[in-house]
Amino acid sequence: MNQGTSSSTVGIDAIAIATPRAYLDLVDLAAARDVPSDKYTKGLGAIRMAIAGRHEDPVTLATDAASRLFARGGVDASRIGYVAVGTETGIDHSKPVASYVHGLLGLPAACRVFDTKHACFGGTAALMGAVEWIASGAARGRSALVVCSDIARYALGSPGEPTQGAGAVALLVTERPRLLELEVGHTGTYARDVHDFWRPLSRRDALVDGHYSVSCYLDAVAGAFGAWRDEDVRRGGGALARTAYHVPYVKMAKKADRHRAIACEGLDEAAAESRFAREVGPSLAFAAEVGNVYTGSLYMALAALLHAEAGVLEGERVGLFSYGSGCVAEFFAGRVAAGAAAVAESLALDEPLRDRVRLDFGAYEAIRRADGDEPAGVTADDAVDVASDRCAFVGIDAAERRVYRRASHGSTPRADAANTAAA
Ligand code: CAA
Repeated sequence: MNQGTSSSTVGIDAIAIATPRAYLDLVDLAAARDVPSDKYTKGLGAIRMAIAGRHEDPVTLATDAASRLFARGGVDASRIGYVAVGTETGIDHSKPVASYVHGLLGLPAACRVFDTKHACFGGTAALMGAVEWIASGAARGRSALVVCSDIARYALGSPGEPTQGAGAVALLVTERPRLLELEVGHTGTYARDVHDFWRPLSRRDALVDGHYSVSCYLDAVAGAFGAWRDEDVRRGGGALARTAYHVPYVKMAKKADRHRAIACEGLDEAAAESRFAREVGPSLAFAAEVGNVYTGSLYMALAALLHAEAGVLEGERVGLFSYGSGCVAEFFAGRVAAGAAAVAESLALDEPLRDRVRLDFGAYEAIRRADGDEPAGVTADDAVDVASDRCAFVGIDAAERRVYRRASHGSTPRADAANTAAA
């Protein structure tokens, strides 16, 4: 597999995140639902959850994350030859989110552009494809843009409601990556046909068999980690300094690591508890602020980990666990590159979390109740309540095409970005 780059490494060169500007504090949700707030903040580990507004969707979040990646990561967009978006928040049966992102960012025409779907695993499928595209030599020195973008949404008042969220994570995948060198071809996989979580075409909210989904996730940890470890022992891979998990809610990462420690590695309760605090805890800060971002959740955990600890992790091995309901899972690993701390600092990974607006419960409910109604017609510029440096979904035109506005492309709805690409 590694023929094309046998003397080189492949992995994640830069990361950026994007979230909606608004969030709901879980204490406010608990009060409205008459639930002790500790159930959400301690029982689930959730502090805030990002709420997408009327002009935010998987395209705008993906575009904002990718444009931050280019600006903060010093990325040469003319070198991109692969754009893949992992998403499970469908906006069209046919036209992919990736085409909008490609158009809005003005990326090269010589490019493979597509979406990937398998619940929260879609981003990992896109990443694996990108890594293998580069490692095979087919990229011929070009880079891949992988974006994970989703809006996690459950019915109002349902048990899943406190585990919502929204956001995107953009990854630049290259040879000789500056952040994380992935171990190409060394992964552990697990799959089983289960109905733990699903999003029927007729609905915007996800349906979930909540407690069953937790047990499916834990089975997948044992299956994927076990397969990875067997191969790792054979290769003499060595210890993992940290592990980032898919984080539907913070407590789930704790359950996952505990299950791996006790059921797969024979640790006792106390050892499992202290390992979790040391090796997983630092990756969870962004998830506690944003909530579930489905496809991007594992990579938001990686971003938080590198933001907090890239300095102490240079040269160390990090494990990654991706889970997609339905289900499929993959465990893999990478090594934090020398110099990653300086790169992570220049990426200012937490910046999108700093300037957000707290919704009161009434405003949250109003947004959710209006959610089914996509803006009919195209909203005039001065009526779009999205900061001008962000991408905005401004409506659906007379031919039922989605129209977006992006500041650096001019302030009027772009007929060329939305419409030419659809033609
Ligand atoms: N103080 C402190 N803790 C409290 C508490 C209180 N007053 N009351 C309850 N708790 C604790 C409980 O003990 C429990 O902790 P443990 O799991 O450690 O035992 C925790 O709070 C949650 O309580 P419940 O299990 O009673 O909560 P619930 O039944 O209302 O719902 C849930 C929990 C099933 C996770 C639900 O939020 C849900 O369905 N979420 C969506 C599905 C999901 O995220 N599944 C994860 C695996 S699937 C996946 O990963 C794919 C994906 O992204 C969706």
